[in-house]
Amino acid sequence: MKVTIDGKEIEVPKGTTILEAARMIGPEVAPPTMCYYSNLKTSGGYCRTCIVKVTKGSAQNPNPMPKPVVSCRTEVMDGMEVQNYTSPDLLEARRGVVEFLLINHPLDCPICDQAGECFLQDLSYNNGTEKTRYEFKRREFEMIDIGDKIKLHMTRCILCYRCVKVAEQLTNGRVHGVINRGDVAEISTYITQAVDNDFSGNMIDVCPVGALTDKTFRFKQRVWFTKPMDAHRNCDKCCGKVRLWYKGEEVLRVTARKNKWDESEEFICNACRFDHKKTADWVIEGPTPISHHSVISQNHYEHLNALKVDTLKRQKALGFMNIDKRP
Ligand code: SF4
Ligand code: FES
Repeated sequence: MKVTIDGKEIEVPKGTTILEAARMIGPEVAPPTMCYYSNLKTSGGYCRTCIVKVTKGSAQNPNPMPKPVVSCRTEVMDGMEVQNYTSPDLLEARRGVVEFLLINHPLDCPICDQAGECFLQDLSYNNGTEKTRYEFKRREFEMIDIGDKIKLHMTRCILCYRCVKVAEQLTNGRVHGVINRGDVAEISTYITQAVDNDFSGNMIDVCPVGALTDKTFRFKQRVWFTKPMDAHRNCDKCCGKVRLWYKGEEVLRVTARKNKWDESEEFICNACRFDHKKTADWVIEGPTPISHHSVISQNHYEHLNALKVDTLKRQKALGFMNIDKRP
């Protein structure tokens, strides 16, 4: 099936969604996502961040679709033409979606552990407006513990359902979910029943905002001051392939490895995540490659080394090497 997205054509198998086709083309056309997660079944369809404009339905029926469609749940038709970043109307519609997502979200990024790796921060930076038009009182909730290792700030939750899918698909029995509907909907453990199973920590990794945080890492360090390293160990519960986040010699947290869409490549167990925080527990593979667009690459200055070497070479060629020894 041929589909054209923002003027770029690609051939994809039947059953591929517009989002998957866009990701195959590349990040320059792929819509942002807040609830879809490639390795969680039935995720997507909740946040509407990934909307696109279908300007031609298919080769057989070339009519455009009357409204923006969610790309993570809409399958490609042969000959379909789609606009994402090339449609000003669509970008305006997405700005509306972002405004809704931010209605109840607190502006507590300066103290939020997710800052620096928050999907909502990036989304609102790229698609948001500077000011809110919302005049009503925002939803507020007490912080609660979900099990002994996870803290829930419901005030920050955008109800993307990813954590519910993790609980459904990775753990032996789901003991938390979304209760109530509309503006009183919330993630709940059905009173304070703890989430206590081997894979519950993955909820922290999939949460796109700072609603579910790792109690062993909370407030320890801003993420851009840490150094991520890829490492592995033999684990009988999971793949054992993780990312260690160092500050100096200390491992501050352990997470799953993320792919270029910031989604966990493979889920990891709680023993790897919470109980192995010594370098000796791991075989270190090397520093994690970090995109230079990520705030995590800031303060590491590796990219300045090449510049320094280049500048020194040029100085030498121009005979400036003794510049500091001038009287
Ligand atoms: S707690 Fe996080 S992962 Fe769960 S629904 Fe809310 S935003 Fe999504
Ligand atoms: S990512 Fe498609 S609706 Fe949320």
